[in-house]
Amino acid sequence: MVSGTCGSGKTTLAMEFLVRGALSGEACAHFTATEPSVKLLENIRQFAFFNMNMIDDGLINVFDMDVLYSWLGLDKATFDLDDVHALIKAIVDIVNTIGVTRLVVDSVTTLCYKIKSEQLIRDFLFTLGKKLSTLGCTTLLISEITSASENAHWSSFGVEEAIADGIIVMGDVERMGHLLRFLQVVKMRGTAHSRAKHSIELTPLGVMLTPMLKWGAMSDKQSRWGS
Ligand SMILES: Nc1ncnc2c1ncn2[C@@H]1O[C@H](COP(=O)(O)OP(=O)(O)OP(=O)(O)O)[C@@H](O)[C@H]1O
Ligand SMILES: [Mg+2]
Repeated sequence: MVSGTCGSGKTTLAMEFLVRGALSGEACAHFTATEPSVKLLENIRQFAFFNMNMIDDGLINVFDMDVLYSWLGLDKATFDLDDVHALIKAIVDIVNTIGVTRLVVDSVTTLCYKIKSEQLIRDFLFTLGKKLSTLGCTTLLISEITSASENAHWSSFGVEEAIADGIIVMGDVERMGHLLRFLQVVKMRGTAHSRAKHSIELTPLGVMLTPMLKWGAMSDKQSRWGS
């Protein structure tokens, strides 16, 4: 799960994850619910690490969640148990058919707003995660949070964090009038990893991490990347 505040770089990080996979020959898919695919691609193509050929060649497959809902007859405000199962089946079928090994759901928050019970949200994420990992697919579920401070939840509904195998938190820290982006790996099952906060920059080459102790050097880099 990638949990982050607005504009913290969630979509860019997720798209770079797919691009790196596509470059090594993996089939990738991105389900977009927060912005239409046309707009998503329009924004992301400004980054040099992204190449539109990956879309044209079918290495990265972008799906609008709204279109998927229409296909499934799910263009409604609230999902019940059957709707949730139909959605899981559709996503799993697409992953299976294309042989997707890297998947992004952007965002799972938007999707889960339609599921009214906490238990059903939990079941949805658990079942989806289990089925996708059985297929050998690594999934980034993007979660929108309003605050990434120490006291805040690491997910939108407070239930997703226990189900996810890993949690990456993205947010902002204000330093001398600048909003600096940070990234922190809170958990990653089965892996020894740093839990330190890292500052991040969205550069043409991709998301760059700098250990927090070196944040003093940010202003130089920011001017170098022209942001
Ligand atoms: N070409 C670019 N180079 C560097 N930074 C950019 C570029 N284009 C946009 N940005 C920055 O990236 C931010 C958006 O990043 P991104 O869409 O990955 O964030 P997000 O967390 O997915 O946002 P949202 O909450 O809106 O979904 C913009 O607000 C802007 O600050
Ligand atoms: Mg986004």
